[in-house]
Amino acid sequence: MPYQHISKSVVKRLPVYLRILDQLIQRKIEMVSSKDLSNESGFTAEQIRKDFAYFGAFGTRGAGYNTVYLREKIIKIIGLDQVIDTIVVGAGNLGTALTRYNSAKNFYVNVVGVFDHDPRLIGKKIDSIDIFSVDDIPAFIAENKIKVAIIAVPAAAAQDIADLLTVNGVKAILNFAPVKLKVAGEVHVHNADLTIELQSLIYYSSAEEDRLKRLKQEVKGSKSLKSLPLD
Ligand code: NAI
Repeated sequence: MPYQHISKSVVKRLPVYLRILDQLIQRKIEMVSSKDLSNESGFTAEQIRKDFAYFGAFGTRGAGYNTVYLREKIIKIIGLDQVIDTIVVGAGNLGTALTRYNSAKNFYVNVVGVFDHDPRLIGKKIDSIDIFSVDDIPAFIAENKIKVAIIAVPAAAAQDIADLLTVNGVKAILNFAPVKLKVAGEVHVHNADLTIELQSLIYYSSAEEDRLKRLKQEVKGSKSLKSLPLD
């Protein structure tokens, strides 16, 4: 079964293709070439052709790929052919924003419940979605067959929440807390970290050259650091 062997890197690229295809279909574009997809995604045209051939989607020479067909194939592979019910743990600033965004803008995912331990929040709503106590998580997961959850609690609480989620059957976690979660082998965790993204992006900001020059000067001035490969 070829679908069972799709590599992690391909799986990470599929949602990128899906987003582009959604936009093309909205613009009523029926065919797309791997070159156009490359321009939109940043992946090479060769990589794209390889990815698609991997799951049996082949373009027509000169015409490219049918956008609707390709989108259908990708949503089936990802498992988005039915809307996925998910829960958010942590009803603070980030949890609230994620709940609002995913309810309003992400039509592949449905946030069906938010959980917190703060009694001031329990019983309230984020838009139309109820905030429940974390104590209700096991029953809620069982009743609603939840397999995907989002963690938006402080780092110190995240591992306990991950344990609670996974012991009750959650198989995939999107973790926003700045901590590496330990989970059983069959559970998948994706970490989202805007701070790290931003900090590594700052490296490429305009001051890069000056900073490296300054660093070189400092290294030259310090005998103990002379072996650093900055030249
Ligand atoms: P916040 O303080 O506004 O919200 C945290 C919520 O978690 C609160 O409502 C609190 O009552 C709840 N909480 C704490 N311990 C809990 C527990 N044991 N069980 C259930 N609920 C619990 O914090 P904010 O700004 O929403 O950040 C949440 C997390 O997301 C933090 O870990 C923060 O570092 C992280 N974060 C990550 C970002 C990223 O890009 N990955 C961006 C912003 C925040």
